[in-house]
Amino acid sequence: MQDLSRTETYSLGGVAAICFAILVNAWKSDGEPLFASLAISGIAFAFTYALIRWTGDVFIKRGYKGRDLSKKNAVEIPEAMGLVCALVYLLAVVNFLPFAFKHDIAEVTSAAIDKDRLLEALDIETGRFLHRFPLEKLASYGFAYGTLASVTILGILDDSFDMRWRHKFFIPAFAALPMLALYYVDFGVTHVVVPLPLREYLGDLVDLGGFYYLYMAAISIFCPNCINILAGVNGIEVGQSLVIALLIVLNDMLYILPTVNQPHPAAESHLFSVYLLLPFIGVSLALLKHNWFPAKVFVGDTYCYFAGMVFAVVGILGHFSKTLLLLFIPQIFNFIYSAPQLFAIVPCPRHRLPRFNARTGLLEPSVATFTEEKPLRPLVGEVLKLLDRVKLLRVQVSEEGRVTETTNFTILNLWLVWRGPLREDRLAIEILVMQTAVGLLGLLVRHKLALLLFTVDNRF
Ligand code: UD1
Ligand code: MG
Repeated sequence: MQDLSRTETYSLGGVAAICFAILVNAWKSDGEPLFASLAISGIAFAFTYALIRWTGDVFIKRGYKGRDLSKKNAVEIPEAMGLVCALVYLLAVVNFLPFAFKHDIAEVTSAAIDKDRLLEALDIETGRFLHRFPLEKLASYGFAYGTLASVTILGILDDSFDMRWRHKFFIPAFAALPMLALYYVDFGVTHVVVPLPLREYLGDLVDLGGFYYLYMAAISIFCPNCINILAGVNGIEVGQSLVIALLIVLNDMLYILPTVNQPHPAAESHLFSVYLLLPFIGVSLALLKHNWFPAKVFVGDTYCYFAGMVFAVVGILGHFSKTLLLLFIPQIFNFIYSAPQLFAIVPCPRHRLPRFNARTGLLEPSVATFTEEKPLRPLVGEVLKLLDRVKLLRVQVSEEGRVTETTNFTILNLWLVWRGPLREDRLAIEILVMQTAVGLLGLLVRHKLALLLFTVDNRF
């Protein structure tokens, strides 16, 4: 067990005490659930921070450990620490529910003891209405919880058995089934609004039917996997997830701020999203502190799946999955760019993370090599040469003109091709800044340019 320093103990204790006081106050004063959510997220941060430190050695003893491949002295550090985050997160969500439903709970219990509202004799003979609790609202939390708990279990399976990429690709879809089932029985909305230029041909709305479910399943598969393959540099898995989470919260704010005409029809779904994202931000900040360069722990596939699924859940159950995709542009690019290796058109090594040059201490693009025994198909070689010419890759060519090696197809390696060798933390910061800028641009396009394609922006 690794102890917290004295400063850390006092700071975490202070944060937890203040948050606890806010929580007690929120309960007594009938305050906004938002304050309770903030306070629970603060406690989740402090708890995760301490737990990561206390349990690190136990993880190593149980074999959950990994070697940091980009360090001179690659010591083994705890792996799969995302499990701690996911468990604290699930606990935080459950503890938030009484605050979210306080009014409904009070109404149901007071109705039960209010003599005037006792049920009529007729009701008793024909069957009673047992409750008037808004179960449909609670269902979203329940199914979100079920989906996130399932994906955590599957993440742990992956981290325990080190599954092959093509086997684990579809794993998140199984976890998403409960959520899709809820969507089917509760909303069932499979219509999308048609952009103005196409309305002449398709009408205002088009029903995608079953395809909409395929689309949502695809999002549930895509979000977790795309975070898992933009990985291998200290802090990048958690960093990108935090950027996405903050951008979604920013978008949510646009619907729930007092300046927006309330009640806004979309406000409730965006509040749901905020309530699920604040604790996520809390546990992720605690993990980032330990995973940032030089990493003291690894996050594991458990974290990547869990984080990606949090986004899929809020996007799907919050009805803004298309806006969500605008915040995944770097990940979408990385996924498409990776496709030739993911689908084995170009051989894919077990690790594609940038190569550490021990002499300079900097990261360089890692490469996949092709030998005479294992050559690249000539046509593929020609395409790679073309991509090299437009600076989307760097290839080595033999004297006979055969491609002998190429940089691996990830955005991290591509960034190093463009920028030259970088220190690990510098690479992570540059990628995160780029991601934030692209995400903000995405939101701007969503709300400003939406008017070119649709009659209104749904904020107004
Ligand atoms: C994915 C990537 C793989 C990349 C790996 C790095 C695909 C198809 N797979 O595989 O190319 O190499 O993530 O996470 O794109 N590690 C570090 N430094 C870090 C993070 C991880 O050295 O900052 C190493 C450690 O040895 C750690 C291991 O990567 O134990 C974790 O790899 P894992 O998450 O199991 O790889 P995959 O998700 O299968
Ligand atoms: Mg991984």
